[in-house]
Amino acid sequence: MLKIDFNQLVKLTNVSKNIFKPNLTSQLSFETAILGIKKNFKVLDLGCGCGIIGIALMKSIPNIEMYCSDFDTSSVKNTKKNFTQNKLKADIREGSLFDPWLNKKFDYIINDVSGISSVIAKNSPWFGKEIPCDSGEDGSDLTISIIKKAKDYLTDKGSMQIPLISLSNVEKIVNVAKENFSNVKIVKSKDWFLPKEMEGLKNKMNELKSKNYINFDEKFGKIICKTSIAVCEQ
Ligand SMILES: C[S@@+](CC[C@H](N)C(=O)[O-])C[C@H]1O[C@@H](n2cnc3c(N)ncnc32)[C@H](O)[C@@H]1O
Repeated sequence: MLKIDFNQLVKLTNVSKNIFKPNLTSQLSFETAILGIKKNFKVLDLGCGCGIIGIALMKSIPNIEMYCSDFDTSSVKNTKKNFTQNKLKADIREGSLFDPWLNKKFDYIINDVSGISSVIAKNSPWFGKEIPCDSGEDGSDLTISIIKKAKDYLTDKGSMQIPLISLSNVEKIVNVAKENFSNVKIVKSKDWFLPKEMEGLKNKMNELKSKNYINFDEKFGKIICKTSIAVCEQ
């Protein structure tokens, strides 16, 4: 396996305007995926954005087949361009969730479809108004839908990883994952500070927290969130 510098690759990758800019979740997703993907695996990068996770994996693991999709037309175009620029080949499709992959089976699915409260997403530097995040007030709608459908798109021993971001209802997502998979394990976890420009959302965030829709800690007057990546095994 080749050791690549994910952050360096991000710097070298062209991310078009109004497309999700790779962030900590992208990095943790890559670091988790690299531990679970083996040679010759068929891998799906679901919610591929600019294609960064799939590209990083193809540069790291020999002989994998890469499939990428996103609901957003500009993201799909951007991914195609970035694969070409890196001289890599993948099957890249447009569509919501698993819609582009009817009758396909994968050995490993990296789910990175928008998974934070839609209310917060709209006012965040990550999504803004342009990048789709129809995840509901508690951020779980898309992830839960993916978890419930995943079995149809996984080989018998296939696994799927999902991000668990505390700006969504993590407990609800984990419960559904445990109902649908025999093993759900947290592989990576990191705390991070909410960006300064989002501090105006504090009242809304407290309201969502009081409904158990999201969770965060406060220290030194700063809001601390957590991102984990769970691997769901059949
Ligand atoms: C958090 S971003 C991740 C992008 C990329 N994986 C990265 O790390 O930079 C979430 C992506 O999910 C896509 N998305 C939102 N709703 C979707 C849906 N219903 N089906 C597929 N992709 C969706 C967005 O367009 C966005 O590109």
